[in-house]
Amino acid sequence: MEPCPERSVWGSQLDQLVDAVLASRNYRHISRDFIAVLGSQELARHSNLKEAIKATRNKLHQVGGAYIESEAHYAAWIALLQQAAVNGDNDQFKRACKSVMGFHASTRERLPMLEQFYTTLLADLPPVRSVIDVACGLHPLAIPWMPLGQGAQYYAYDIYHDMADFLNEFMVLIHMPGYAQTRDVIQHCPTSKVDLAFVLKAIPCLEQVDKNAGLHLLDAINADHLVVSFPVHSLGGRKKGMAANYEARFHDLVRHKNWSIKRFEFATELVFRINKKDSQGCS
Ligand SMILES: C[S@@+](CC[C@H](N)C(=O)[O-])C[C@H]1O[C@@H](n2cnc3c(N)ncnc32)[C@H](O)[C@@H]1O
Repeated sequence: MEPCPERSVWGSQLDQLVDAVLASRNYRHISRDFIAVLGSQELARHSNLKEAIKATRNKLHQVGGAYIESEAHYAAWIALLQQAAVNGDNDQFKRACKSVMGFHASTRERLPMLEQFYTTLLADLPPVRSVIDVACGLHPLAIPWMPLGQGAQYYAYDIYHDMADFLNEFMVLIHMPGYAQTRDVIQHCPTSKVDLAFVLKAIPCLEQVDKNAGLHLLDAINADHLVVSFPVHSLGGRKKGMAANYEARFHDLVRHKNWSIKRFEFATELVFRINKKDSQGCS
């Protein structure tokens, strides 16, 4: 069969777009497949390649780049953590984890309330032996604060290769079974059965790429419990009724579900804990 000329022009434009985006310093570590998904959306919207490249970079900034404010120094960070681990001082190790989490704008917001966050959300659950963390950012560095069960396994996903490499080194350092992986969770939602899934401040990001991403994710994740959260203010610090809007969005997403749901409010984060096993409703 003859190749469709329109498709091959499109295909070569998409390859050029992806190569151009990967050549930018800020986006060189992002999954090629994810850039291709955004790139094809932008090629359909824009009449020329240059505009589509610019729009793809803007979208990548909105959904990922904006959270990493300065350049990530993964080698230095792992060295700091290794040094703290060698010293065997748990408090020093936790301080090192906090200082690294401070480099991810979204993960950083949780630092003042780390103890309270996991005790409130996880302490009354049955032992948690398997966790997935979708669109994780640097959140896996909070594992030392989580009351996980003996031998628990942790699986974390984000779009950055260098972040996944760093998180894998971190997990080896703390002897945490599992892995971090570069993955677009919109196209490839993890569906293995786990006790707990973290979907922390992820839905607003993912819905900028696909408006059905939140619904699909909540359905497809095969966890007994899901901790789903939303920011209560924008990265710039403005509130603009965000919490109320996201609360309405969440209720819209779970409208037809018979899941048992608990609501928690923290200073910087609105959280819903879904129990898919024992369906009841909201409280
Ligand atoms: C608002 S941050 C939340 C980070 C983390 N969950 C937390 O709350 O600390 C959103 C994260 O989603 C990641 N991300 C965006 N789109 C993604 C996708 N399609 N698949 C996986 N991760 C994605 C970004 O790189 C960023 O780290």
